[in-house]
Order: sequence, then C-alpha cells, then structure tokens
Amino acid sequence: MSWLSLQRRDTQLSELMDDPACDLDGLRRTYAQFGSVNSLVAGWGRVYRQHLRPRLSRDRPHRLLDIGCGGGDVPRALARWAARDGFTLRITAIDADARAIAYAAAQPPVSGLTFRQALSGDLVRQGHSFDLVTSNHLLHHLTDAELRTVLLDSEALCRDAEGRGGGLAVHSDIQRSPLAYAAFRVGVAPLFRGSFIGVDGLRSIRRSFTAPELAALAPPGWQVQTLPPYRNLLLYDAATALSDTGAPARA
Ligand SMILES: C[S@@+](CC[C@H](N)C(=O)[O-])C[C@H]1O[C@@H](n2cnc3c(N)ncnc32)[C@H](O)[C@@H]1O
Repeated sequence: MSWLSLQRRDTQLSELMDDPACDLDGLRRTYAQFGSVNSLVAGWGRVYRQHLRPRLSRDRPHRLLDIGCGGGDVPRALARWAARDGFTLRITAIDADARAIAYAAAQPPVSGLTFRQALSGDLVRQGHSFDLVTSNHLLHHLTDAELRTVLLDSEALCRDAEGRGGGLAVHSDIQRSPLAYAAFRVGVAPLFRGSFIGVDGLRSIRRSFTAPELAALAPPGWQVQTLPPYRNLLLYDAATALSDTGAPARA
C-alpha cells in the first residue's frame, strides 16, 4: 500500500467485523480485545476527566448514551469511573449489530448499564434524551451521509422535549495519517492475535477522517479537537450551540 492512498478516505474497504458471515469466534475475540486496544490508543480516561466528569453532579442521576458500543468496554469503563467518583450514571449502550449486543450483554452485569440493539434514530423517534452522548471508533464505519445522520441524532438526543438542551456529545475516533498507520502496524497490530484487530485496525485507519474532513462534514455547532496519539474528538455542547443560534438553552 502506498502512503499516497491515505490522502483520501477509503470507504470501499470494509472491515471483517462488519461482514454478517464473518467467523463468530474471531468476532468474539475481537470484542474481547477491544478493551485492551482502547486502553492503548483511545484515551477515554482523559476524555472522561476533561469533558464528561465536569458535566456530572452528585445531586441527581445522569443519563449517558453510547452509540456503536461493540463489546461494551467503553461504557463499562465510564460506569466504573463515574461510580468511583460518586456519581449516579445510567448508561444505555446501543449497537446496530445484534452480535455485538449478544456479546456485551453476556458479560458480567454492571449496575446502571443496559445494552440494546438499536440505531441512534430509533432512540430519537422514541423520544429519549440524554445528558451525555458518546461513541468510540464509530465514525469511520459510517458513510458521509450516515455520519451526518448520527450527528443530527446526537444533537436531538441532547435536547429535552421542549427542544432545549444542556447535554454534550463526544464522538472519538482515529485520525487518518501515514504515521498513525505505521504506528498501528508496527506497535499495536502484532500484540493482538487470533482476532480481526490487526486487519480491521489498519482498514479503520484508511477509512477514518482527518480533522479538517470532519470539520467540513459536521453540522454547525460541532467542534473538532485533536488528541495525541492520532485522535479526533468531535464535540457538540448543546447549551453553547443552541445559544449561538438564538434558540433557548437550558439554564
Ligand atoms: C469498531 S467497533 C467499536 C466498538 C466500541 N465502541 C469500542 O470502541 O470498543 C464499531 C461498532 O459500531 C457499530 N456500528 C456501526 N454503525 C453503526 C450505527 N449506524 N449505529 C450503531 N452502531 C453502529 C458496529 O456494529 C460496531 O460494533
């Protein structure tokens, strides 16, 4: 593969885990290894401390939605950290793939964490709302049109029934670059055998967005932050975004 091919998103590449006919044992090992991969590369401890924890108070329960939860390791970590810090956080973790939900739901239960097979749009139609909306390694799975849909759904889910909102959405994903590709191939992929992590990780990087691409595709009100190593955070602060547009924001 030439480095030049990383200049554009390669949406023609599909990941092994997205194949409905993929080897189920390999898929389960992939879900099982996501937690270790995420601890190495995804930086959710920092995202929790910098973005999520400041939104939590001990006065009331909070609701968090994780979209594209896979095996559920990120919502489990968030539940653990929030409980450690004395917050009541009720987490709904959704995935489009029934196999992911079956795997996640079969793991030891965590208080306040529920898994369900759903798309973000299903929750919008059902009138749900959340204080926090998150995803990890979801965005690169999506087409540009699907990305917009997920972002608009995230906005809607951060609002209450009157259209007011004070919630925060944080979507975290890999940032496409030749260095990220080389670092993953040499430093991460060899650590994970017997799963799809090596192949899908490299394909994920080729499918992922650069920060300027995300900024160009995101609707108004969204901001892109970059985090080392090779991460994009796409953030929507409903209170700020709504007050910028003149719409009423929750006090
Ligand atoms: C690479 S996995 C990441 C799993 C998990 N978030 C993690 O980081 O360990 C991406 C997950 O997103 C799910 N997914 C893809 N498109 C989706 C969509 N439109 N809505 C919900 N889930 C989706 C896939 O089924 C897959 O389980």
